[in-house]
Amino acid sequence: MKIFLDTADAKEIREMAASGLIDGVTTNPSLAAKTGRDYVESLREIATIVGGPISAEVLATDYDGMMKQAKIFTQIGKHIAVKVPLTWDGLRACKELSAGGVMVNVTLCFSPMQAMLAAKAGATFISPFIGRLDDIGEDGMGLIRDIRTVYDNYGYKTEILAASVRHVMHVREAALAGADVSTIPSSVFKQLYNHPLTDKGLAAFLADAQKANVVIKG
Ligand code: G3P
Repeated sequence: MKIFLDTADAKEIREMAASGLIDGVTTNPSLAAKTGRDYVESLREIATIVGGPISAEVLATDYDGMMKQAKIFTQIGKHIAVKVPLTWDGLRACKELSAGGVMVNVTLCFSPMQAMLAAKAGATFISPFIGRLDDIGEDGMGLIRDIRTVYDNYGYKTEILAASVRHVMHVREAALAGADVSTIPSSVFKQLYNHPLTDKGLAAFLADAQKANVVIKG
């Protein structure tokens, strides 16, 4: 499963990317607002840190405006994926951009039929928001499973990008459900490798080695 970082904070991305395990980045207007920086400037910096897809979300809600903003984003680099909302205009923009060879991430997906339309429009990624569905008592993971089934039934190549991920269990379940990508905050990324038995086991290994004076000679 690919792991994308869900943040617009270049400093945080640089820190996490040092792991060598970050395959891409997703940003959105709310995440951009949190940085207090110019959005395009942040994206330019992020594009120098991560070689994988970097989602840059349009602010325009009409087709022409989306296409104009997409042009600004794609000038940053070939690995920019233009993120458009799952609306009538967003789907039109997706179809046009994809036909021109631009990666598109269709965001704010909350139903399998929305996901099917995004795939038909040639989306590179579809972003179902798991956490926000769970928040209102719906089944976020069920949506991932349904999209997987629809895409597999018809051979759609659009990648399922599990978004609005709140904790490790979401990542685990999304991986089991066959999501292609999880986009996660760095707090969740750090939790992925933690296990109390790993810490306990390591402490015991080191204590045993110290007791018996086991050393590694170069
Ligand atoms: O990428 C957008 C998505 O991850 C938003 O997450 O936590 O604001 O629902 P959240």
